[in-house]
Amino acid sequence: MNISRGVRAVAGAADFDLYRPAEEHEMLRESVRALAEAKIAPHAAAVDEEARFPQEALDALVANDLHAVHVPEAYGGAGADALATVIVIEEIARVCASSSLIPAVNKLGSLPVILSGGEDLKKKYLGPLAKGDAMFSYCLSEPDAGSDAAGMKTRAVRDGDHWVLNGVKRWITNAGVSEYYTVMAVTDPEKRSKGISAFVVEKGDEGVSFGAPEKKLGIKGSPTREVYLDNVRVPADRMIGGEGTGFATAMQTLDHTRITIAAQALGIAQGALDYAKGYVRERKQFGKPVGDFQGVQFMLADMAMKLEAARQLTYAAAARSERVSIGTGKGSDEQLTFFGAAAKCYASDAAMEITTDAVQLLGGYGFTRDYPVERMMRDAKITQIYEGTNQVQRIVMARNLP
Ligand code: CAA
Repeated sequence: MNISRGVRAVAGAADFDLYRPAEEHEMLRESVRALAEAKIAPHAAAVDEEARFPQEALDALVANDLHAVHVPEAYGGAGADALATVIVIEEIARVCASSSLIPAVNKLGSLPVILSGGEDLKKKYLGPLAKGDAMFSYCLSEPDAGSDAAGMKTRAVRDGDHWVLNGVKRWITNAGVSEYYTVMAVTDPEKRSKGISAFVVEKGDEGVSFGAPEKKLGIKGSPTREVYLDNVRVPADRMIGGEGTGFATAMQTLDHTRITIAAQALGIAQGALDYAKGYVRERKQFGKPVGDFQGVQFMLADMAMKLEAARQLTYAAAARSERVSIGTGKGSDEQLTFFGAAAKCYASDAAMEITTDAVQLLGGYGFTRDYPVERMMRDAKITQIYEGTNQVQRIVMARNLP
């Protein structure tokens, strides 16, 4: 199956069963898995070892229309529904977590424009993203504003028909590689969250520069850098939505995209489980494969059980995301906020446990870089931290109990 056609075949399939992907989704999974194994997996260890951007993955994803599948068809995108987007991210993360941040962060960065931007802004910025000519990053966090996102200091001051931005954004995924940045900044310091507005900033805007890449435990192939804004003048029509709506847009975006982090966690965990399953069949101790021992079988059973529970929750969350139609901004699902946080929290905790157990099952070999499970364990850790720590997810869930 042509993958591009596969993504388009599931476009707008909002009526998929809550907990079970349609046949088209499973066909999409098979195609993305084949592509990921052929074109992305062979480079995953080197990308991690050398902490370099996975250019081979980007090229393969762009060639197959998989780099930003969520962009609506009206703007030249594949228009994949939320579940199809999850499946694409899951299958890429199964072989390389760093590469899965390409479709995931393209969605995160551009969703504010899709949800709240005017038609001109959508046409201008979504077209190049859909074509693969530009990537999109999301700039919310700052050195002193992580979990307390509304405590940000980056300032935007009106000057005629422009806004002038000053500040520092930290932990920005794909910074330096992306052409476009959604930047949240304070336009009225008296109003806390209601005084924050969102803007599109371009890499080429005068006054934009980047810090040194962070030296990280995992997702080493995905650059994480600071973004410096030094008197950056952006035209007023680059504000996303109305003045003072930026924080709400940022939070609405995370309601949808925390599900993509859950997807990433599922993929990493599936990769580790698949590897461990194969290993225990081959590895012999006491005269038989270690997989013949019940203690090992019980570990694998627990890993598979946790993974499947996380997958069901993630797909249920994706169904809710799809009901709030991303293309049109219409529709609603009162439980999306809870489900997005729950899926991200549950799936990332499951991924941490499953990858740790995979290392255990490989024994001393699992602890070396000659086998991929230690990379998967290191990569899983970030899914418990970014797009809101799992402690923040619990705050969000508690405030939005179903
Ligand atoms: N949808 C719409 N609007 C929302 C909303 C939502 N889900 N959540 C909040 N809002 C709006 C509301 O209008 C609210 O005002 P009202 O009182 O009128 O309802 C306003 O925002 C303020 O909301 P809160 O009072 O809940 O704000 P708070 O200061 O208490 O913060 C928080 C809440 C949940 C802790 C929030 O700050 C948060 O999510 N923090 C974590 C930030 C985060 O996830 N950062 C991730 C960075 S991106 C990243 O990691 C990307 C990457 O690298 C891949």
